[in-house]
Order: sequence, then structure tokens, then C-alpha cells
Amino acid sequence: MKSLKHFLSINDLDPEQFISILDSATQLKANRRNHEKTLTGQVGGIITTKPSLRTRLSFEIGLLELGAKALFVRNEEVGLGQRESYADIVRVLERYLDFLIVRTHDHQGLIEMVKYSSSLNIINALTSEEHPCQILADFLTIKENFKTFKNLKLTYIGDGNNVCHSLMLASSLLGVEFTAITPAKYEPNAKYINLASQNAKKFSGKEPKMTNDIQKALEADILYTDVWVSMGESVDHKSQSDFENYKINESLLKNKNIPVLHCLPAHKDQEISDEVFENNAKLIFDQAENRLHAQKALMLHLHSSR
Ligand code: CP
Ligand code: NVA
Repeated sequence: MKSLKHFLSINDLDPEQFISILDSATQLKANRRNHEKTLTGQVGGIITTKPSLRTRLSFEIGLLELGAKALFVRNEEVGLGQRESYADIVRVLERYLDFLIVRTHDHQGLIEMVKYSSSLNIINALTSEEHPCQILADFLTIKENFKTFKNLKLTYIGDGNNVCHSLMLASSLLGVEFTAITPAKYEPNAKYINLASQNAKKFSGKEPKMTNDIQKALEADILYTDVWVSMGESVDHKSQSDFENYKINESLLKNKNIPVLHCLPAHKDQEISDEVFENNAKLIFDQAENRLHAQKALMLHLHSSR
């Protein structure tokens, strides 16, 4: 299997690596209290420019459960790309750390870090372009519930954002039929549509589909939604009224029993109704739990490439 040093994008994985990480996550989940502490003596640093509940805690706990130490540093101290350049920060941090986990708006900043780092394993904990760790957890949740990815229809509804990009890439790697239903002007970035299309040609044959037609939601095996306004985006920049017809609620689902996923945090008066959220709470909180198991598997996979 190809070795993987950093994880900035779902597209850093090939299908074999993706499946291997998911299988390892399943094993780690089943043996949570008695698996080996493979990362004993190592240190993972977490830096974030944005708020986080799941990402910070699941990485901190994951590192601890694998025997490593976790250090959380607020970006107010570090000043990624402001007090100091990404290139200089990473060259300092690689003298101290084994893993570097970064949440920042600036995807290019992470690419810069990879360019200047020789020994660290760098992980994208959310940028404006992708949220790949979330999607590992989501595909673990899908695997637990559907057993196979082949020919599943996964439909994302809402803003064509970071989560949408990573879901689209993952689907095209694993043979899931992906559709993004967005309001006009909020389609996913063309760069990610093209990457997913290239993956489809290479691996799965499942080209991503884009539509503004919300009724296509009823053709899905699984629905997925996320906030209309992502962290760091100005609310003024987006018109809430553009999204009014893109809510997942009972009137859209018409009593059809389609499972709904959400990466959280959720806005229950907006992208998902309280009723639909509660009907899917088991799955949605499985996604949150699976951040822990999937990221532990990811860190072991990156570690084995050293
Ligand atoms: N889903 C997710 O990344 O949650 P946090 O923003 O709380 O980390
Ligand atoms: N799209 C959201 C995901 C939050 C986990 C954001 O970037 O804020």
C-alpha cells in the first residue's frame, strides 16, 4: 500500500488506503479499552483558529488512548500566517512534535506547512476547502449501517462547502453515487467537482451530480446536511432566503424513511428541523463518536509511514 505522511485532503487517499483506515477504525472501536498504545512517548499538537468541540476533544482523547500526549495551543498565541509564517511555524514545531493537527481557514497555509516539514505528520482539522477527518468518521458510520458503499446514493443538501467537497471526493473514491443539491450560486467549487470526476474515471465510475432541484432528495439512500454559513464566513455574505427551500424537514421527506446525517453543530431552525434531527439522533451522534475512532486509525496509518 502507498504510504501516507500527511492528510490534508480526502484525495490524499486511494480507495485501498481509505478502506484500510476504516477497517482499522472498526477494530480500534471494538477494542477501545484494550488495544495497544502504539504512539507511546509521542506528542501531538493541535492549533485552531476557529471554535471546536468534536475535533479538539476527539483528537486529544485519541492521542491519549494511543499512549501519546496532546497539546492544545490557541491560535491567539501562535498567530498562524500573521504573527509568523506557516513555513516558519512548522519548522519550529517539527523540532518538538510528532503530529500537527491544524484547523484554519487557509488551506494554502497547510500546503505551505507540508512543503516545509520533513518529519511531522500534518493533519487538516478543517479548512475553508475541506473537512477530511469528518468525512472519515461519516464513512465509518455509513459502513456500520449499510455494510457496503457500492451503488449507495448519498445526497448532500445545502451550501457547497468544505464538508460537501470532502464528501464528494470520498464518494468518488469508494463508488458512492453522490449528488449535491444546492441553491444556485452555492454549488461546490469547480476544482472539487473536477477532482471527483477524475477519481470517478480512475476508480469508481461514479461521477458526482449537481442540481438545484430539492425534490431529487427523495431518490437518495442517505441524506446529509451542514450549516448554511460556515465558521468565519460573514452572514451578510449569504442570503438566508436563498436557502429557505433547502431545509430537511418532514414536509420534504413526505414520510419517506431516508436516514439523515449531520456533521454538527446543527442549526435546527435552518438546515434541519428539530423533528428530523431527533429521528436521526442515533446516527448523528454515531458520526460524532466515530471522529475518535477514525482519527485514531488515521494517526496510526500516518505513523506507520515514518
Ligand atoms: N464537526 C466538527 O468538526 O465539529 P467541531 O467544529 O465542534 O469540531
Ligand atoms: N461547514 C462547517 C463545518 C463545521 C464542522 C464550517 O466550516 O463551519
